[in-house]
Amino acid sequence: MADNKKKLLLAAKKARKKAYAPYSNFHVGSAVLGGNGRIYSGCNVENASFGLTSCAERNAVFAMIADGEKRIREVLVIGESDGFLPPCGACRQVIAEFASPSAMVHMCNTKGACLSTSVGELVPFIFHLKKGKA
Ligand code: THU
Repeated sequence: MADNKKKLLLAAKKARKKAYAPYSNFHVGSAVLGGNGRIYSGCNVENASFGLTSCAERNAVFAMIADGEKRIREVLVIGESDGFLPPCGACRQVIAEFASPSAMVHMCNTKGACLSTSVGELVPFIFHLKKGKA
C-alpha cells in the first residue's frame, strides 16, 4: 500500500473511534492529505436535530482549512459498509472545492478493503463559482 494511503488510513481509523453517532450508530472516519504534506482527520458528529449532523469528510476538510491549508492532495473515508463507503453528495461538493480532479479518493470499509478513484470521477460535473462574483 502506498505510504500516503497507509498514513491516511491510520488517521481515519483513529478519528472514526471518536465518532459521535448515537442516532445512526454508523461511525465514520476520514483523513485528508493537505498540499503542505500534513494529514487532517475528522469523524461524523450527529445532533438531536438530525439535519445538523456533520460528516467525517467535511470535518476533516474544515480542520485543514482552519490550519491554513487550502489544497487537498488525497482523501480517505472509512466506515462499516458491505462494499465501499462513498462520500455523500454534500461532502463531494466540499472536497471538489479544494481538490483537483486528479486527486485520489480512497473509499474503505472496516473489513480492510478500499476502492480508489479520483475526485473527477466521483464528481464529473462539479459546481464552481467564480471567486468574488457572488
Ligand atoms: N456520514 C459520513 O460521515 N460521511 C458520509 O459520506 C456518509 C454519511 C455519516 C453522517 C451520519 O452521521 C451517518 O454517517 C449516517 O448517515
